[in-house]
Amino acid sequence: MALRRIVTDGDPVLLKKCKPVEKFDSRFHELLDDMAETMYAADGLGLAAPQVGIIRRAVVIDVSEDHTGLVELVNPEIISRSDETQYGTEGCLSFPEMYGYVTRPKTVKFRAQDRNGNVYEKEVSDLFARAVCHELDHLDGTVLPSYIEKPYEPEENAGE
Ligand code: NI
Repeated sequence: MALRRIVTDGDPVLLKKCKPVEKFDSRFHELLDDMAETMYAADGLGLAAPQVGIIRRAVVIDVSEDHTGLVELVNPEIISRSDETQYGTEGCLSFPEMYGYVTRPKTVKFRAQDRNGNVYEKEVSDLFARAVCHELDHLDGTVLPSYIEKPYEPEENAGE
């Protein structure tokens, strides 16, 4: 495994619509391993392939606190979203200076392939659902600056 460089801010690779993953070979497994390692090293909850310069539909997410919850989403799609929403803060490893409020569904159900191409479905809520929405947006070139509803201002929490 190896750390990869995280693409930041104005890099046009972040704005591309990613292509489906078609080869589930050892090279692809190495990419997923590297993405997880890079995400953990950067203290992130999720990372999409374009963030390491690869224009393919692959994402890693781990919302656990002890790095035991790694999930790999290959060619993922959201197949249902709850009407109920959550409003909270979101950041992005590719926009390290940016932090703001985003409304997301409270629960989403997604369908994806694992690293060997097997299809699975999973329903997730709260922070996990937020991470799925955020990372899947990356695969279509949709990034944080385009959907932040309100910047986070630390002084809002002063005195709490
Ligand atoms: Ni991001």
